[in-house]
Amino acid sequence: MKRIGVLTGGGDAAGMNAAVRAAVRTIWEHEGEAIGIRRGWQGLAEGDADVMQRGSVSGILHQGGTILRTFRYPEFATPEGDEPVRKALGALKLDGLVVIGGDGSFRGAAKLEEEFGLPVVGVPATIDNDIPGTDHSIGYDTALNIAVDAVDKIKDTASSHGRIFVIEVMGRNYGLLAAQCAMATGAEETLVPELDYSVDEICHGIETAYDQGKYHALIIVAEGAGRASQITYEINSRLNRPVRMVVLGHIQRGGAPTAFDRILATRIAHYATDLLFEGKHGVAVGIVANKFKTSSLRKRSSASKDVVLKNWELAQLLG
Ligand code: F6P
Repeated sequence: MKRIGVLTGGGDAAGMNAAVRAAVRTIWEHEGEAIGIRRGWQGLAEGDADVMQRGSVSGILHQGGTILRTFRYPEFATPEGDEPVRKALGALKLDGLVVIGGDGSFRGAAKLEEEFGLPVVGVPATIDNDIPGTDHSIGYDTALNIAVDAVDKIKDTASSHGRIFVIEVMGRNYGLLAAQCAMATGAEETLVPELDYSVDEICHGIETAYDQGKYHALIIVAEGAGRASQITYEINSRLNRPVRMVVLGHIQRGGAPTAFDRILATRIAHYATDLLFEGKHGVAVGIVANKFKTSSLRKRSSASKDVVLKNWELAQLLG
């Protein structure tokens, strides 16, 4: 019987539980033993793991967060992190590992595969959707929908009071969440880390829009493009109009996953776990144009700037 570990790493993302459930049940389908690693990479380094009992993944498909918990453990990227992990792996006696997480987790997974000889497969889960090799990462759709719902609500207040709102969304250094949120809410301006911007031009655009009869302005700022507080301050000092700011922050990470994320997580985690049992590993699994795709855990390109720019252009054109 094979002992396969399941780990969630990096920031939690809605749908991680659906991925854990699918991986664990697929392991059982292959008559393997599923080992749940608690608290991500930190838990792995401490050997904090247990056999997943029957029933342990029941009723979690719709839950946000991760029942396995997660922890940021940058030490694993350094040689100091090696020893505890080597010791824990010796005790855990795993035959393989399913890593559910973002790019940082994939780097950890590549290290396990190459330097520790453990067969690993990666399942992309992060609200940032900045993982090459898949159209969507698990958690992105939920985060986007949460952001859109929040901006819709803010828009009611903005247009009732004639206010300018600067709304900061997450996404680390990738602007897709901001650009698609802007497109879906009809925001007037979008600031993404991929492009420079000028506050003077933004202010000019807002004034022109108000002159033409608009009675609100929504400015979506990707967290990697700048701080909402600073941009709000700068607009405030240039325009004689009421400006407010909202930082959506971690509200975008939690809550029940959308049906899209549940299905995505289930499909990818099942496929990835199957691959481990077929003896294929060292890869991250994604879905591109509705087809499964594998890419190397190690040789990873960077997230597509072009995708962000196309979405940004359309949001700006019609906003
Ligand atoms: O990677 C997911 C993410 O939510 C980013 O969008 C954000 O920059 C970061 O994690 C926040 O991390 P933490 O929860 O550790 O503050």
